[in-house]
Amino acid sequence: MRDAPDPNILGQLQENPLTPSMISTGVPPLAENTASPDESALVAEFIAFLKDASTKREPSGPVHRFNQGRHSGCVRAEFTVLDHLPAELRVGLFATPGTYQAWIRFANASSRSDREKDVRGMSIQISAVPGQNLTPGSTTQDFVLNSHPVMVVANPGDFLQLLKAMERGGFHRILYLLSHPRTARRGLAARGHPTSHLDIPYWSTTPYRFGERRAVKYAVKPCSSITTAAAIPLTDHYLRDVLRAHLERSEACFDFMVQFQTDDRTMPIEDATVEWKEHESPFRAVARIRIPMQNIEEPGRMRRCEDVAFNPWNSLLEHEPLGGLNRARREIYRAMAEFRHQREAD
Ligand code: HEM
Repeated sequence: MRDAPDPNILGQLQENPLTPSMISTGVPPLAENTASPDESALVAEFIAFLKDASTKREPSGPVHRFNQGRHSGCVRAEFTVLDHLPAELRVGLFATPGTYQAWIRFANASSRSDREKDVRGMSIQISAVPGQNLTPGSTTQDFVLNSHPVMVVANPGDFLQLLKAMERGGFHRILYLLSHPRTARRGLAARGHPTSHLDIPYWSTTPYRFGERRAVKYAVKPCSSITTAAAIPLTDHYLRDVLRAHLERSEACFDFMVQFQTDDRTMPIEDATVEWKEHESPFRAVARIRIPMQNIEEPGRMRRCEDVAFNPWNSLLEHEPLGGLNRARREIYRAMAEFRHQREAD
């Protein structure tokens, strides 16, 4: 049985999502989660920018996600918490072995064509998860992951500056990249042409609480019995084609893993550009994702893939998102999903 969470903690989180939520245990937590006072204003500015830029991109009719707007497909999956986990891994969702139904969306971070090198996304939404959820009314546990272990920027302020420069394009984009060479290098390193969404690993890049006193990052690593050969030539939609072909022929598999923060200096909470090195703290499997054979183009599937909304704050209390990027995502993802749905209804 899971321990009942302290109701005061939940109250604090729901009333003020940007308050750093140190869970009081009498023992100082290893995870450092330090919110700055101007985060609320930054989040408001971020949302205004995203809505304005989305409207300029698509002035009427339905609007796509500002980030990860072009999906290769969505799949039904089973998320099975492993049996016989050691006690330190039996926390929150992973406390009890069992199988949940899940929905996974695979997408490109920014490109409209698969010919372009890009970061790829894997977003997992696990249904009917019992326990105290950080989003009132939600019963899902969401994991929103990228195909590169670190973010190109450390914090939401830097991210907004980057997105503004990219959106303005031309001279502004070039000036930004020249004046931020490390961000530019990270961006180049993150982009690639995978053989398939089903063949590559994904990382949370940002940290999450794991029970009261520990923090983890997540990774998802492929374990399918078949892989896809490199597509030659690359087409605009080869990633959808190989996803469809793989799941027509065979099921797919991923291991879901956690990596403990073991040193708050080399494994920071507030800087998502720092990779937590596997030689310092290895990833450990806690669940297996099985994607059964299926038709990813069945009627209604594409519509559902557009409509679904993920949010890292659709989460059990025990897995609270940590760090500035995650704190900002709570309200930004909520507002942008609402904006998309509103435009769809208009
Ligand atoms: C301040 C930080 C961030 C901002 C402002 C931001 C912004 C956004 C926005 C606006 C969306 C579309 C949401 C929607 O319309 O429903 C999105 C989706 C996504 N983001 Fe982020 N993001 C941030 C951090 C991250 C990080 C750290 C990751 C790394 C894993 C990430 C990965 C993704 C993925 C995979 C999706 C697609 C979700 C889906 O399939 O619907 N984002 N992001």
